[in-house]
Amino acid sequence: MARQTRRFVCQACGASFTKWSGRCESCGSWNAIIEEAIEAAAPRSLGRRRGHSISFADLQGVSEAARRRRTGIAEFDRVCGGGIVPGSGILVGGEPGIGKSTLLLQVAAALAREAPCAYISGEEAVDQVRMRAERLGLGSASIQLAVATDVRDIVSTLDRPDGLGLLVIDSIQTMFVDNLESAPGTVAQVRASAQALIGLAKRRGFTVVLVGHVTKEGMIAGPKVLEHMVDTVLYFEGDTSHQFRVLRAVKNRFGPTDEIGVFEMTDAGLKEVTNPSALFLSDQRDDVTGASVFAGIEGSRPLLVEIQSLIAPSRLPSPRRAVVGWDAGRLAMILAVLEARCGLSLSGTEVYLNVAGGLRIGEPAADLAVAAALVSAARGVPVPPKTVVFGEIGLSGEIRAVSRTEARLKEASKLGFTRAIAPTAPADQKKRGRTGGAMEIVGITHVRDLVGLFGAARSGGEHEFGQAVRRVPKAASHG
Ligand code: TYD
Ligand code: MG
Repeated sequence: MARQTRRFVCQACGASFTKWSGRCESCGSWNAIIEEAIEAAAPRSLGRRRGHSISFADLQGVSEAARRRRTGIAEFDRVCGGGIVPGSGILVGGEPGIGKSTLLLQVAAALAREAPCAYISGEEAVDQVRMRAERLGLGSASIQLAVATDVRDIVSTLDRPDGLGLLVIDSIQTMFVDNLESAPGTVAQVRASAQALIGLAKRRGFTVVLVGHVTKEGMIAGPKVLEHMVDTVLYFEGDTSHQFRVLRAVKNRFGPTDEIGVFEMTDAGLKEVTNPSALFLSDQRDDVTGASVFAGIEGSRPLLVEIQSLIAPSRLPSPRRAVVGWDAGRLAMILAVLEARCGLSLSGTEVYLNVAGGLRIGEPAADLAVAAALVSAARGVPVPPKTVVFGEIGLSGEIRAVSRTEARLKEASKLGFTRAIAPTAPADQKKRGRTGGAMEIVGITHVRDLVGLFGAARSGGEHEFGQAVRRVPKAASHG
């Protein structure tokens, strides 16, 4: 007999409580706890009935999981780990209006040439979806389109062996199962709906893509729980004031998680950006202080990004630090290292740091580029033209080598850069990139070397900048 009980569930993390409170004790979110009905308490033990025995398989068996389907949208396929895996669940999260529906309609249309695709919208009318398809030039794509929110109807309709390739559910927050009392969008509904849909996908061997809106705080409303249920979690992000969007894998059972796909939102939908470096470099000017170009790696690809900083005097007891696109804690660390190891104090000034174009970078290799931007702003000396910077900074101020130096240099060379300020590697003062362009490596071992570069450049200019490096004696830089 089902005993009706109530519980209070945090919509941000899914934690459940017996009484309401303003702040979730589990994840710290405010006003995220709402009351939900639950049908029955879970049974305490399994009882007497014996189950069926399960069969075990060898690890070496032939598995179909390697079979992947390419959708034809290369940036999407790469982020998924080389195509979508049949019988798997993908969650695509993103803020409202970022372009999730647009992306998935394009993905479905591209795949529809190979396999039947269904798109179920719980948010828009069929006409609205048609209008969008028209605008995207996909009016003739053979997608099965429906408007539905009742998961029971969806499962009954699609539970047949007809070889569906892809099902898009837009969005999981609008779906509901009718045996739960709580409203669509609540944790209980989202979890139950997702479970039913993913179960169907696994049983029938198609890929289900669940669209999930994220809240301002960047959480998929309702569900960290949802992230555990799917095989792949992708976030579609970007600044709505910029035209480009980044699709990022944060969990992937079938591929790497550091991969990004870059798209540009145009009048005719999302266009793939195959050379994103050009996009993230703002119009380069040689005489600007406080800016540096970071030669980064995003997933498998090198990516050049401009880092900008601004330092302004402040009368506040604790001056402002504002960071866009990078970790604020990491900035505090770099500021502390510059102060403690080089005597460059910025504690009485406001510091603003911005990754151009709205990209978010997480690589420690960006440390040196951030430091270069800060020192450049503090000293009022521009980073010399055609120079990229990369390297990790340790707490003692030492510069650590980073991975994939070759790829970084090659990308920089391809985009017309001629010099890199980078961790010292033995015997590569003049290195030839595989593209043929010569890159001069200004190798440094300590942040002091970096600060020295700017100090020397003030009196001299570009030539002096290079000279100064060679004047930094290696032994002294660690002493
Ligand atoms: P949409 O896919 O509806 O976002 P989401 O599903 O994530 O809420 O896209 C919303 C925005 O994209 C909307 O503001 C208009 C813009 N857009 C374009 O700029 N070009 C286009 O071709 C399309 C279809 C949308
Ligand atoms: Mg949408």
